[in-house]
Amino acid sequence: MRTVITGTGIGLPNNVVPNEKLALIMDTTDEWIQSRSGIRQRYFADPGQGSAELGAMAAQQAIASAGVRKEDLDAVIVATMTPDYFFPGNGPVLQQKLGLPEIPTFDIRQQCSAFLYGLDLADSLIRSGKYKKLLLVGADVHTPFMPWENGWDVTIGREDREVTAEEREINTRFRDRTVLFGDGAGAVILEGRENGPRGLVASKLFTDGSGLEALYVKGTGFRQRPYVSHEQIDRRDYIPIMEGREVFKQAVSKMPAAVRQVCGEAGVKVEEIDLLLVHQANLRIIEAVGKALGLPPERVPHNIERYGNTTAATLPILYHECLEAGRIQPGMLVGLTALGSGLHWGAALYRA
Ligand code: ACO
Repeated sequence: MRTVITGTGIGLPNNVVPNEKLALIMDTTDEWIQSRSGIRQRYFADPGQGSAELGAMAAQQAIASAGVRKEDLDAVIVATMTPDYFFPGNGPVLQQKLGLPEIPTFDIRQQCSAFLYGLDLADSLIRSGKYKKLLLVGADVHTPFMPWENGWDVTIGREDREVTAEEREINTRFRDRTVLFGDGAGAVILEGRENGPRGLVASKLFTDGSGLEALYVKGTGFRQRPYVSHEQIDRRDYIPIMEGREVFKQAVSKMPAAVRQVCGEAGVKVEEIDLLLVHQANLRIIEAVGKALGLPPERVPHNIERYGNTTAATLPILYHECLEAGRIQPGMLVGLTALGSGLHWGAALYRA
C-alpha cells in the first residue's frame, strides 16, 4: 500500500503586494529584499480572511482535481500555525466551510515543516488501513502579525502615501521578518493505492526543541496570566522573534542532511532525485540546499519570488505549480524538504 497524491489545489488572496509597496511604509528597498531573499512580491489576505478560508479554497480545488466527492473523504489533516481561533483548531472551521460530513479532523502545527509532518501522518493512517482518502491542507496568514496600523491600504495599492514617522519607525523595527512572509494555502488529496510504483517512498522527520527561541512567538501563550494582555500587545510580543542568521545556518545544514538520510533509508542516491522541492523561506537557502546536495538549479524549482514564505503552504503550492507546468511527470522521483520553527525539519521522497 502506498500513499498517492491524487489531487492538488491552491488558495490565494486577491492582494498582490510588490516590494515597492512595503518600501512606502518602512525603511527597506526592493533591492535589499530581492538580494537577501529572492522575494519580489507576496499576497496579503483581506481583513477577516483567515487561513481556514484560504485552506477551503485550496481544498475545493484539490477535491475537484482528484475527482472525488467530499462525502468520500475519511479524514482531514489541517496544518497551520495561524488558525482562525486560539481554539478549536482550523479542522472544524474548515470542515464547516467545506460542508464535510462528520469525519475526524486533525490539527497539526510544526510551522514551516507542517506539510511534511502532515504527509507523514497521513501516510501512516493510510497504510495502517484506517483511512483510505484524506485531505491534507497547509494554510497560513501572516498579515495579522504585521505591526503596521495604517499601512494596509498603502501595501495593497489602494493608497499611495507615506505613513507617519512614528509608524515608519515601528514598521522598520520588524522589517527583517515582515518582508519575508505572505499569505496562502495549498492542499492535496491523498489516497491509498496497492501494487503500483506511485506514492510516498519514504519520509523522515526531526525535532530539536533546544533552539526554539531562535524562532518563536513569545506573547499570548497560556504560560502567562492572562494569556493575552495589554502589556504583551504594547511590547508587540505577538510578532515572531527570529534570529535570521541562526535559522539560515540551521536550514542550510539540516535540510541537506535530512535529504541524504531519507535517500539512504530508501536505498536511492541523491542524484536520482528528479525534482527537489525545498520549503520556500529564502532563495539563498533554497540554492544552498541544492548546491550542498550536488543538484543542478533546474532540479530545484522555486516560486518564493511570487509568494514569499507562506509557511505550511509553500510545499503544496510549489507541488501544484510544478504539476501544472508539467515539471512533475509520471515516474519522477520528487524530494521534499523543510525546516522551521520548533525546530522541526525533515525530508520525504515521492514517486510521481
Ligand atoms: N530592509 C532593509 N534592511 C534590512 C531589512 C529590510 N527588510 N531587514 C534587515 N535589514 C538590515 C539589518 O538591519 C542589517 O543592518 P545593519 O548591518 O546596519 O545592522 C542588515 O540589513 C543585514 O542584516 P542581516 O540580518 O545580517 O541580513 P541577512 O543577510 O542575514 O538576511 C534574513 C536576513 C533575510 C532574515 C536571513 O537571515 C534569513 O532569511 N534567515 C532565515 C529566515 C527563515 O528561514 N525563517 C524561517 C522560516 S519562518 C517559520 O518557520 C515560521
